[in-house]
Amino acid sequence: MILLRRFAALGALATTLGISAPEARLENGLARTPPMGWNSWNHFGCNVSEQLIREEADAIAASGMRDIGYRYVVIDDCWQTARDARGEIVADSARFPHGIKALADYVHGKGLKFGIYTDAGTKTCQGRPATLGHEEQDARTYAAWGVDYVKEDWCNAAGLVAPTQYAKFRDALAHAGRPIVLSICEWGSNQPWEWAPPIGNLWRTTDDIGDNWASMLSNLDQNAQHAAVARPGAWNDPDMLEIGNGGMTDDEYRAHFSLWAIMAAPLMAGHDVRTMSPSTKAILTNAEVIAVDQDSLGRQGMLVWESPPELQVWAKPLADGSRAVALLNRSSAAAKIAASLPRIGLHVDSVTVRDLWAHADRGRFGKEYAVEVPPHAVVMLRVTPVKR
Ligand code: GLA
Repeated sequence: MILLRRFAALGALATTLGISAPEARLENGLARTPPMGWNSWNHFGCNVSEQLIREEADAIAASGMRDIGYRYVVIDDCWQTARDARGEIVADSARFPHGIKALADYVHGKGLKFGIYTDAGTKTCQGRPATLGHEEQDARTYAAWGVDYVKEDWCNAAGLVAPTQYAKFRDALAHAGRPIVLSICEWGSNQPWEWAPPIGNLWRTTDDIGDNWASMLSNLDQNAQHAAVARPGAWNDPDMLEIGNGGMTDDEYRAHFSLWAIMAAPLMAGHDVRTMSPSTKAILTNAEVIAVDQDSLGRQGMLVWESPPELQVWAKPLADGSRAVALLNRSSAAAKIAASLPRIGLHVDSVTVRDLWAHADRGRFGKEYAVEVPPHAVVMLRVTPVKR
């Protein structure tokens, strides 16, 4: 199955490297590059409060994460407890004593944007009140609170039709009159890559990520199948980042970050920013890797070569004609991996190579660049044609 999927990815290479697919995307003017920010779920689960979100926003600003691009601060599930007599959604008053509007104002005051979570069904995944039948009302409420980003989940949605429900919420957000990113979260269960581009700015393609190497690779392999669909305003979402949560080595987290950047994935950090280690910070604020993710061409990179099943070369075309390349070693032994120029889509005599984790120029090469890659790691490169 995985191999079949990989062949499909190789087959779609021409599309991604050269020919543009027809334009079809949500025209709300947002997410022209993949959204970047922070979300509470991966680290805190239901344990959210206004105090926590304020402290995380403070840390995102103070650590430099904000200024390098992490803008959306998103509260995931469990902020809501009920609906009032008028059907208005009610926040947990013990955990959010000043209400969501005051929290959004605080986040905005930090130079950040504010995001929130709901669900298209009757209840959220954690059993809180969800949006079914309240689409226009909730969209108005969110707009009045100053929400900039909504993640809409798909639990407790039996019998509902995903494109219909998500389009309903897209329209409700448009009627509410505030520019709001719509993040579709139905885990790839209704083939969103076929219908989501004109509805949401991003859509999950996988189940929830776990903080381990196997889960990260599984989400990579699934998300990679839909590369041809991604474009500015409309992104495949292989789920949020686990960097800094402790379940992977630094090499594995560097691979996670590199591969998400190669796939033009949303970069939503999911750790405790207040206590992050220097190595977590160095990974999440690598400006050269972020530039690959945020490249204005907006193409999702693809698998372009493999020695099954463990050694792979991934490549992403960039606006300046260069290629971002990840040499990925999925095995548990060090191995040499070569990026040949035709395989990464460069039909030129020579290139310069820069290593984006070593922050070092490697020189000028013809034909290929080959290097030893440690186990469970990537070497990430920017490969630029030499102009004659
Ligand atoms: C689903 C989503 C997760 C998270 C939880 C919250 O599992 O996929 O990202 O939002 O719900 O309950």
